[in-house]
Amino acid sequence: MCISSWSTPLSYIGLAALAYVTLHFTRQATTFLLRSTLTARYNRPGTNWALVTGATDGIGFGFCEEICARGFNVILHGRNRTKLQRRASELNERFPTRKTGIIVLDVVDLTSSVDGVADEVSAILAAHGGQLTVLVNNVGGDGRPSGTLDSYSFKDVQETIAKNANFVAQITRILLPLLAAGDPGVILNISSVAAWGLPYVTIYAATKGFVDTFTYALQAECTAEGLGVEVLGLRVGQVSTPGYPVALGWFVPTPRVMAQAGLNRVGCGQVIVYGYFWHWVQGLAFEMMPRWALNMVTTSMLKALKFQEEDKAKRW
Ligand SMILES: NC(=O)c1ccc[n+]([C@@H]2O[C@H](COP(=O)([O-])OP(=O)(O)OC[C@H]3O[C@@H](n4cnc5c(N)ncnc54)[C@H](OP(=O)(O)O)[C@@H]3O)[C@@H](O)[C@H]2O)c1
Repeated sequence: MCISSWSTPLSYIGLAALAYVTLHFTRQATTFLLRSTLTARYNRPGTNWALVTGATDGIGFGFCEEICARGFNVILHGRNRTKLQRRASELNERFPTRKTGIIVLDVVDLTSSVDGVADEVSAILAAHGGQLTVLVNNVGGDGRPSGTLDSYSFKDVQETIAKNANFVAQITRILLPLLAAGDPGVILNISSVAAWGLPYVTIYAATKGFVDTFTYALQAECTAEGLGVEVLGLRVGQVSTPGYPVALGWFVPTPRVMAQAGLNRVGCGQVIVYGYFWHWVQGLAFEMMPRWALNMVTTSMLKALKFQEEDKAKRW
């Protein structure tokens, strides 16, 4: 009886599927056990620099703090010079042996003058010494309340794509030669669970899909060209930030904890990973659901968020 049940093709397909799923999840789980290669590989002389986009608040500033704590100098990018200078001074006070620089650039409505960022970064490196070895493509977010696609204006669509997709492509294009020069470099692209295709944030979700595909393609290209640049996508769940002020909890870390977790994944041998362990656990549950069930759960979550935002807007 038992022997005959193993002789059907379906049994072998089932066994192969089980082996695939087990292997897939084991590979993901091991990323949390490996030691980060960030400091050993990308900060050997101790004078290396990281550039973080959208660095004045939230996860971006969390990365700045954590990167300084791990021995790098940091260039903060943002749109508000005063806030950038304040954040840079804060880092200088807390990490007196680290150096900081700032790049002021609004990522919406970019023109080809964005190419000048490479010269600005080179000037900072020339003034203080060292090389750029880390780029954190963090700037992003929806920037407007969630809603159906037809509730977006022309400007909403343009800004969401500019902030989350266009700038990632442009800044990486510009800085890749600096990252590839000399020491090996690493690019961390901040993605989101929205890339599963969450409703009511359709444009934002699609831009994070862009970030994921960009990450896979660039990693393959850098390997093919022998560039010595590692490209890692970090899939992020909920994090409590000024742009997304949700209550902290097991599944909702602070920006600094999120940044620690993300940097700990460097060198894990995968291209896109969950940075934070509990986001991975959440992600596992969602990834195992059939699409219709995932849509049901995410629709009810996003609808609740939409109502909360509408209610808040009415009260203000
Ligand atoms: N928070 C979450 O739950 C969550 C979840 C998944 C993925 N993520 C991703 O994580 C990243 C950071 O999110 P966050 O929640 O930390 O965002 P946040 O708190 O809103 O901070 C965004 C940062 O980007 C800067 N910024 C915004 N618009 C800009 C512009 N037009 N030009 C230049 N800089 C600009 C902000 O500068 P100002 O200080 O001037 O505003 C700030 O420094 C994003 O890519 C987001 O998609 C976040």
